[in-house]
Amino acid sequence: PPQLHEVVKPLAWLLGKWRSEHGRGMYPTMKNFTYGEEVEFSHIGQPNLQYRAYSWMGDHDTPMHREIGYVRLQPGSLHVAFIIAHNTGLSEVEEGEVNGTTIKLESKGISRLSFGSEPSVKKIVRTFRMKEEDVLEQVMYMETSRTPLTEHLRIQYKKQKH
Ligand code: HEM
Repeated sequence: PPQLHEVVKPLAWLLGKWRSEHGRGMYPTMKNFTYGEEVEFSHIGQPNLQYRAYSWMGDHDTPMHREIGYVRLQPGSLHVAFIIAHNTGLSEVEEGEVNGTTIKLESKGISRLSFGSEPSVKKIVRTFRMKEEDVLEQVMYMETSRTPLTEHLRIQYKKQKH
């Protein structure tokens, strides 16, 4: 496998596959729900990581939200950017800082389809935090055209060995 590029070394702790069957979803406009998700950060030796997050409901048979993208760092800094496409028709750039094994992100730009459905997503704020060896937590807040910034997702992944 290629060597991890120097620029993205501060993100090395994210690499690998992370998985949970016990994510919790919520929002003022909906009933609470439980979901599963697998997240993978990988690299090919370039100064970026590849990112994907696939979620499902109940057993594995109902795929839900999906994201695919890249993670970049401003060279020589801890300023991080996620460039993400969502299966729901959003594409966005989130930026923030890496602080040890915590990343705080805020959307800087969200594009949507001309024929996207309501409500529209106005803001995404999320944190990835490695709480302990092999445990990664993600907490996500969003603002929509109808609802102020409110928590939507909270999940703790376990590192997968394969
Ligand atoms: C609903 C956005 C991730 C499950 C929604 C709504 C929005 C949204 C805008 C409609 C809210 C409303 O009507 O007030 C997002 C964004 C995500 C994300 C931007 C990621 C950045 C997820 C994930 C799951 C999920 C990972 C896991 C299964 C749901 C469910 C609903 C919902 C079950 C309610 C039913 C529905 O409208 O489909 N989400 N979501 N979302 N989301 Fe998410």
